[in-house]
Amino acid sequence: MFPALIIPLLLVKFQTTQEQASNDAGAVSQPELWSKSTFAAAGQNVTLSCFTANGGLPITYELFKMDTIQKTVVVRERNGTAKFTVLVKNITDVGEYKCTAQNNFTTAKQYSKGLNLSLAEQVSKPKLYSNTSSAAVGHNVTLFCVADSGSLPINYSFFRGETFLSLLTRNDRLPATLTINLNSTSDLWMHKCKAENMLSDLQQYSASFNFTLEEPVSKPKLYSNTSSTAVGHNVTLFCVADSGSLPINYSFFRGETFLSLQTRNDRLPATLTINLNSPSCLWIHKCKAENMLSGLQQYSASFNFTLEVKDPSSMWLVICPVIVTVILLLIFILAFPLFILPRCKARKNNTSTVGNTASAKKSSALPASDESNYDAGPTVEEQRESTAQQGEVEYTTVFITNGNKVMERNDSEVQYSEILVRKSN
Ligand SMILES: *[C@@H]1O[C@H](CO)[C@@H](O)[C@H](O)[C@H]1NC(C)=O
Ligand SMILES: *[C@@H]1O[C@H](CO)[C@@H](O)[C@H](O)[C@H]1NC(C)=O
Ligand SMILES: *[C@@H]1O[C@H](CO)[C@@H](O)[C@H](O)[C@H]1NC(C)=O
Ligand SMILES: *[C@@H]1O[C@H](CO)[C@@H](O)[C@H](O)[C@H]1NC(C)=O
Ligand SMILES: *[C@@H]1O[C@H](CO)[C@@H](O)[C@H](O)[C@H]1NC(C)=O
Ligand SMILES: *[C@@H]1O[C@H](CO)[C@@H](O)[C@H](O)[C@H]1NC(C)=O
Ligand SMILES: *[C@@H]1O[C@H](CO)[C@@H](O)[C@H](O)[C@H]1NC(C)=O
Ligand SMILES: *[C@@H]1O[C@H](CO)[C@@H](O)[C@H](O)[C@H]1NC(C)=O
Ligand SMILES: *[C@@H]1O[C@H](CO)[C@@H](O)[C@H](O)[C@H]1NC(C)=O
Ligand SMILES: *[C@@H]1O[C@H](CO)[C@@H](O)[C@H](O)[C@H]1NC(C)=O
Ligand SMILES: *[C@@H]1O[C@H](CO)[C@@H](O)[C@H](O)[C@H]1NC(C)=O
Ligand SMILES: *[C@@H]1O[C@H](CO)[C@@H](O)[C@H](O)[C@H]1NC(C)=O
Repeated sequence: MFPALIIPLLLVKFQTTQEQASNDAGAVSQPELWSKSTFAAAGQNVTLSCFTANGGLPITYELFKMDTIQKTVVVRERNGTAKFTVLVKNITDVGEYKCTAQNNFTTAKQYSKGLNLSLAEQVSKPKLYSNTSSAAVGHNVTLFCVADSGSLPINYSFFRGETFLSLLTRNDRLPATLTINLNSTSDLWMHKCKAENMLSDLQQYSASFNFTLEEPVSKPKLYSNTSSTAVGHNVTLFCVADSGSLPINYSFFRGETFLSLQTRNDRLPATLTINLNSPSCLWIHKCKAENMLSGLQQYSASFNFTLEVKDPSSMWLVICPVIVTVILLLIFILAFPLFILPRCKARKNNTSTVGNTASAKKSSALPASDESNYDAGPTVEEQRESTAQQGEVEYTTVFITNGNKVMERNDSEVQYSEILVRKSN
């Protein structure tokens, strides 16, 4: 049991003497210089750390830049690290830094490896925005985040509340984009983004961005600065919907005719100035309001201007209906002989054809040469036929030769309404 106690004690004694030999009384080894970041923004304090693992205390550390001593730190604690704070004012304060370590057991200073400090520009506070200010659940929306200044590359991180959504690295000045599908109303609010470059101590957060829940447009009101007017005057129509997500598209109509489309991103009315150059311009104006919530359109009530009769310039407004009536009358008069009359005539012709065949039968006794006389003209024929239809009319041929009257018929009491005299050789 006795020898067993002695052996561990000897071992401990040996170990402590070894440590003291390397750390407390020895020469310093090559120190190491490091920094959290090798980039600094102008005006920023940068902490450079220098440490040597070996060497008896105290150890004197020095910071050099381009062989010029900057600062000195004496470390008296075991494993103590020398910390140099460098205020980087401008480009002259960056470049290659080195540190040295020295103690009483060392004849020559030990130099660290070089550490290159570079100047970088801090990112500016990023802007977070979207091309759609309002959105409905189920829609896809795009968020844009961009910092106007700051050394590249810039890392952009998107958050909703405290929840990290996405990280994008951009090596240019274009915004980082994130498309999100809005699954619920809670997805609409508290978006934020962070911009960060190599100066990670100097990261910046955007303001919060909320989408507004898309609201359907209300029925718009249509009105004018004047309700009574005269032809030739300029009037302004206003159309506005009191509620509904912006932007709102307003369309103006006269009757079914589209007049104008305007987009408003505020609650002010859309305006349309029209010149009432004809009386027909006065009636039935309407407007339509529509926002991004597709499929929902609202029409205003109709709006009519009333005519200002006092105004002499509107005199022709009164005359106008008269002119229109006269023109209509003229059209009717012109259309009567051109259109209505030929139709009546066509009907008459049809009935006279029937009469012709009847008379042809009656005068079948006539010689063929004589019959041609009756066909002398259609007008004569017609008149004869119309009378033939009304009374008992017969045709007969009277031959007069050398003053003697020869009748082919025996009836002496026949009245002839028309006598055709032909001189035969
Ligand atoms: C930098 O450090 C010095 C002292 O170490 C301090 O006076 C100064 O305010 C610091 N500057 C900045 C920007 O932190
Ligand atoms: C000093 O550092 C060395 C290694 O870095 C470590 O082993 C030792 O325990 C440290 N000593 C003290 C007193 O902190
Ligand atoms: C850097 O700042 C120092 C003073 O802090 C000034 O003397 C020097 O001209 C500046 N150098 C440049 C390049 O701006
Ligand atoms: C050791 O160095 C310190 C300064 O770092 C000095 O004051 C001291 O006298 C030196 N001791 C010996 C024994 O050289
Ligand atoms: C630091 O930069 C200088 C010149 O810009 C270069 O010669 C040197 O090798 C660099 N040192 C390190 C450690 O990168
Ligand atoms: C918004 O921007 C994204 C990406 O550029 C595009 O895909 C989307 O169509 C845009 N939306 C609107 C409403 O402009
Ligand atoms: C939203 O985007 C996803 C893909 O990212 C697509 O599958 C979906 O159809 C989109 N929804 C709408 C409403 O555009
Ligand atoms: C919406 O749900 C889909 C899966 O259903 C998910 O991939 C997406 O990230 C969700 N969007 C948001 C904004 O939470
Ligand atoms: C930027 O993000 C990338 C990963 O995408 C990462 O490797 C890099 O360290 C980040 N840079 C900074 C400055 O945070
Ligand atoms: C976004 O909404 C939250 C509450 O939901 C509010 O605290 C914050 O101020 C809103 N941000 C903006 C820019 O309106
Ligand atoms: C109506 O407006 C047009 C231009 O919009 C102008 O040329 C015209 O003179 C105006 N007429 C009246 C009566 O103000
Ligand atoms: C405008 O005139 C049309 C027809 O002329 C009529 O149907 C409508 O009711 C009128 N509107 C108003 C508001 O007077």
